[in-house]
Amino acid sequence: VRCLAVVNQKGGVGKTTVATNLAAALAARGFRVLLVDLDPQGHATEGLGLGERYDDQGATLASVLLGAWDGDVSELLVRAPAGFDVIPSNVELFVAEPQLVSMRGREHRLARILEPLHAKYDWCLVDCPPSLGVLTDNAVVAGREVLVVVQAQDSSLRAFELLLDQLDSIRDGLDVDVAITGIVLNLYEDTNVSKRVDEALAKLPVPVLARLRRRVKLQEAWAEGRSILDLEPHGHASVVFRQLVDELVRTPDLAEAKR
Ligand SMILES: Nc1ncnc2c1ncn2[C@@H]1O[C@H](COP(=O)(O)OP(=O)(O)OP(=O)(O)O)[C@@H](O)[C@H]1O
Ligand SMILES: [Mg+2]
Repeated sequence: VRCLAVVNQKGGVGKTTVATNLAAALAARGFRVLLVDLDPQGHATEGLGLGERYDDQGATLASVLLGAWDGDVSELLVRAPAGFDVIPSNVELFVAEPQLVSMRGREHRLARILEPLHAKYDWCLVDCPPSLGVLTDNAVVAGREVLVVVQAQDSSLRAFELLLDQLDSIRDGLDVDVAITGIVLNLYEDTNVSKRVDEALAKLPVPVLARLRRRVKLQEAWAEGRSILDLEPHGHASVVFRQLVDELVRTPDLAEAKR
C-alpha cells in the first residue's frame, strides 16, 4: 500500500475536497483504496454520504486510537458509493485528541491500526484536520508520504514553511522518514497572485502535481455525497483528479524506497 497524508494546517484550503475526490479517481482507475477521515469535523465522512456514521456509538476510530477497543479494525470499514472503503470520523475524535497527547507512542497509533490492512489496499489516503497536532502527526507517521494542498494565495507560503518545519521535526524527533510527494495547488486562477505562488513553489524541491480551479460543482458534489467524477465526469475538476492519479502513479513510492 502507498499511504498519503493529505495535509495543511490552514483551514478550508481543500484537503477534504482533494482527499475524497482523489480517492474516487483512484478507485475509478481500478485501485483498491482506503480513505481515513482523521478530522474530528468529519467533513470527508459527510461528503461521502456517510454522515449517519458520524453519530455511530459502536467501535469508532477514536476508541481504537485510544486503545479502548481492541476488536478487528476491519469492523470500522464502510463502503463509499464511489467504490472505496472508508474509516469514518466520529464526534468522539474531538475528545480523543487531547487524551491521545498523553499516551505512550502517541504519534504511532494510527500506523499500528492500519498495519493489518496494508495487504488489502493499493492506496490509502488520510484526510487531516486543519492543525499540526497529534492527529496530523499520526497521519504523517502512518503515511510516510505527504500530499500538501496549498491555496494559491500569498499567505499560503508562510503556512507551507511552518508545515515543512513540522515535517522536519517529525523526521528528527520520531526518526521516521517522511517524504513530501507533492503539492496540489487549489483555487488556481489566471492572476498575478496565483502566478507568484506558483513561481515561489517552483523554487522548492517539491513538485506541483495538480492545479485545481474554483468550481462550484465541487461544493455541490460534497453536499450531495457524491464524487465530482460522478457528478461532472468531463468537467475541469474531474480531468484534474484523473491527471493527479497519473502523476501519483508516475512518482516513485518514496516511503518504500527508504524502508
Ligand atoms: N476548487 C474549489 N472550487 C470550489 N470550491 C472549493 C474548491 N476547493 C474547495 N472548495 C470548497 O471550499 C470549502 C473548503 O474545502 P475543504 O473542506 O475541502 O477544505 P479543508 O482544507 O478540508 O477544510 P478543513 O481545514 O476545515 O478541513 C468547501 O466548501 C469546498 O467545497
Ligand atoms: Mg477538511
